Amino acid sequence: MFSKQPCKHKLVLYTEKAKPGVMQNRIVVLTGAGISAESGIKTFRDDDGLWKHYRFEEVASPEAWHKHPGDVLEFYNQRRKNVIEAEPNAAHMALVNLEDYFDVKIITQNVDDLHERAGSKDVIHLHGEIRKARSSNDPSLIYPVEGWELNMGDKAEDGSQLRPHVVWFGEPVPMFDIAIEMAREADILLIIGTSLNVYPAASIYQFAGKDVPKFYVDPEANKTVNIENLKIMKEKAGTAVPDLVTYLIDNFK
Ligand code: APR
Repeated sequence: MFSKQPCKHKLVLYTEKAKPGVMQNRIVVLTGAGISAESGIKTFRDDDGLWKHYRFEEVASPEAWHKHPGDVLEFYNQRRKNVIEAEPNAAHMALVNLEDYFDVKIITQNVDDLHERAGSKDVIHLHGEIRKARSSNDPSLIYPVEGWELNMGDKAEDGSQLRPHVVWFGEPVPMFDIAIEMAREADILLIIGTSLNVYPAASIYQFAGKDVPKFYVDPEANKTVNIENLKIMKEKAGTAVPDLVTYLIDNFK
């Protein structure tokens, strides 16, 4: 039966209401580049995505850093400039509203800071943060990047060249264990704007309970994503997430 508050939006979902008396207050949100697309930040694998213009091996890998660090710094400088000029969109803002009713934890694959700038309080960045830099030798030496440029000759306190504080292909994902625990504890799981192409991030949803209600917002979401108890919204995040948030507040708080 559709719940008492069917969304005005094309929610392709058919779900029972929250179980009476069962606290369902921890919402875990896995986001990808798609949630920032309407803020003007390119995704990676869409038709005009970053990886259609660059080979990731040449700009986002330890080998590239070793071979031509200046080109890598320039690639991230351009993306950092784009992030600074971008603003959070309605999807980021809607997730902040959710915090008035639920314990919301965001696991983002994005290196932008739009969730934080929107006001989200509990965000972990699986793939790092573009507005931070770190020592090339000691990953614990992390610094904010003032402005949009990080250049050759900018050094950490250990004297090494500063590099972007992001996870390159082939590097470990240090926040993954924390993300797994968050998914395990989710009462509701949202997946927003990710192609679920890159591991281990793409496996996180599998750690959520099989009977946990899951919602996948992505205009290209395909039904072959065989996730149990999944409801798909094949819409852009900027329009679908505010509606999904209203639905969750009306039916699960
Ligand atoms: N709203 C919602 N989803 C959108 C929108 C939008 N307005 N526009 C695009 N999308 C969807 C696309 O359909 C696609 O499924 O966002 C997804 C973007 O997928 P990718 O470009 O693969 O980005 P992502 O899944 O975040 O990539 C994961 O890959 O290259 C690495 O480190 C990089 O963190 C990145 C990781």
